[in-house]
Amino acid sequence: MNIKEAKEKAAQLREFIEHHNYLYYVLDQPEISDAEWDKALRQLIEIEKEFPELRTPDSPTQRVGAEPSKAFPDRKHLSPMLSLDNAFSLDELRAFMQRVAKGVGRDDAAYLGELKFDGLSLSVVYTDGELEAAVTRGDGERGEEITANAKTVRSIPLKLRQRVRGTIEVRGEVLLDKTEFERINVEREKMGEPKFANPRNAAAGSMRQLDSRITASRKLSFWAYGVGEGGALGVKTQWELMERLRELGFRVSDEIRVLNGFDECAKFVEEWTARRKSLSFDIDGLVFKVNDLGLQQKLGSSARGPRWAIAYKFAAERATTRLKEITWQVGRTGVLTPTAELEPVSVGGVTVSRATLHNLDDLLRKDVRVGDRVEIERAGDVIPAVIGPVPDDEHAKRPKPQAPERCPICESRLSRAEGEAALRCLNKKCPGQIAERIVHFVSRSAMDIDGFGEVLVFRLLDEGLISDIADIYELESKRDALVAMPRMGEQSVANLLTAIEASKTRPLNRFLYALGIRHVGETGAFSLAQHFEKLENVVSATFEELVAIKDIGPNTAGEIVEFFQDPENRQTLERLRRLGVRPEPMHRASGGSEFAGKTVVFTGKLEQMKREEAEELMRKLGATASGSVSRNTDLVVAGPGAGSKLETATKLGIEVISEEEFLRRLNKA
Ligand code: IVH
Repeated sequence: MNIKEAKEKAAQLREFIEHHNYLYYVLDQPEISDAEWDKALRQLIEIEKEFPELRTPDSPTQRVGAEPSKAFPDRKHLSPMLSLDNAFSLDELRAFMQRVAKGVGRDDAAYLGELKFDGLSLSVVYTDGELEAAVTRGDGERGEEITANAKTVRSIPLKLRQRVRGTIEVRGEVLLDKTEFERINVEREKMGEPKFANPRNAAAGSMRQLDSRITASRKLSFWAYGVGEGGALGVKTQWELMERLRELGFRVSDEIRVLNGFDECAKFVEEWTARRKSLSFDIDGLVFKVNDLGLQQKLGSSARGPRWAIAYKFAAERATTRLKEITWQVGRTGVLTPTAELEPVSVGGVTVSRATLHNLDDLLRKDVRVGDRVEIERAGDVIPAVIGPVPDDEHAKRPKPQAPERCPICESRLSRAEGEAALRCLNKKCPGQIAERIVHFVSRSAMDIDGFGEVLVFRLLDEGLISDIADIYELESKRDALVAMPRMGEQSVANLLTAIEASKTRPLNRFLYALGIRHVGETGAFSLAQHFEKLENVVSATFEELVAIKDIGPNTAGEIVEFFQDPENRQTLERLRRLGVRPEPMHRASGGSEFAGKTVVFTGKLEQMKREEAEELMRKLGATASGSVSRNTDLVVAGPGAGSKLETATKLGIEVISEEEFLRRLNKA
């Protein structure tokens, strides 16, 4: 079979399987035998094994769980890792509770309400209290054994805090914080690696690293929610089970609640629908479990999942609408991003009329065509994205989208580097790029010029008042022209000019980031500033000096050298200097400071200074201020109210000092 035939065959099989799934699971009217169905699924699995590129995330083969990768040995779960039935509405939740009432012959059963963690499910196995193995869910029967990686996750106890005889399987979810997810993606982007789509994929990817040092470098956490083999640990309710797991040393959510009756469950749903975004990690719903373990047992399980629990899924923030046009946006480095112009539609309460299609490859892979109805998704605060077309009869007749040959703004020919997904406009004078460079320069994480947003940048460009970043600092002399602009006024101009003035002495790392050098993100800019201290030193740095720095790889080093050699960039820098832009130098870890090169964690309340100030001070002295205690921590400064971090530090034998002692050492530094 060649790939083309395989593709066709796979599509046929998928349609066949899904159709019969529907007849079987939804309508309860099967038309074919189980054996026939199995055969089709096995054929599809074979094809996908031979042509992995044909595997799609929505393929029915994916429902049976991922095939264990050969990189990790597989291991059988002592009791299967079941899935949960879903409820997508309060009505479905009520129906579940009615089924439970019928099953146990009474309608006053209490439930435990829990968060449904959106990460990687994991079973950790202890024998006589010692961690023996950690196994992914896999197909529910067998999973991959990733013990070495699990051992790097600090919230997975290596030894239980109390002795438990025999073998128990503790079940839970490995999560990655949203901020940690962002950090990893910034890093991956810098390394030219594909970014993770969401924290769940990032958690799964991190746990399946062949090099467990990589796993260790990511802040993963394990949240326990149940026990497989090993039974009830001598408790009578789900609530007590969670308490027990906590005593054994596991992290258990503080947000579990015992709920009586439908109304309390519905209230829990309402509360978390509003609160979910405030969590530092993702949840995709809630789980309701019959609290009484005796009743759980009475209800038992079906092949799919326990009859005593249900997952209430939050409405996915998705919607469908018509694709009106595909436009190409030019970014500050010249990369073109295809953008879907949509008929406005409300997604999770926000009106969306544009969504990203990421890049050319993505656009072609999704095969969306102008005129299609498309499905769009808005996840949290990220830019809405197009998932794909909603199939209809007209789709095939609509013309396929074409990649532009010329830049839509400056009309210069576009280039596409080998192996890159991006189309790029190479004209540095392209007005589209210039505008985006200025928008980036003034933005909050860069020069942070208050009141200077995208809209103002475009207005000033239109008025001819600015045409590059240095012009921003000449606006002072164009005060009259500014005041004359519609909707500006004396006061807003005065505020703007004050904000511009204040930005002249931003720390060097911000300035370097603001310049928008390709591949230099916030972390890289910080490393550069810390290493070179002054702008002049960065400007004259050689490739060899640059690659020797933490966070700077050869690609980035090349871009930096090229940037500072470019005569126009040099001219801009010179103009900025003459206009009074003097980024504040960074003080390198002076040999005299005992903090240089150390990782310091502040916990509890500081009385003499704010925590941010203390952290900033540490950075200036060449130390790393971190938010969590690990084996890499060198020093913990603990104030009143210090809790688990202090505990961890003591356990790991890390030096702990008071704020007073910290100040004493600072004075010497
Ligand atoms: S209980 C037999 N509780 O959701 C009961 N699962 O669709 C098994 N999950 O694979 C699960 N948070 O990885 C349970 N509080 C929670 C959960 C939870 C997340 C995941 C779990 C499971 C999937 C079920």
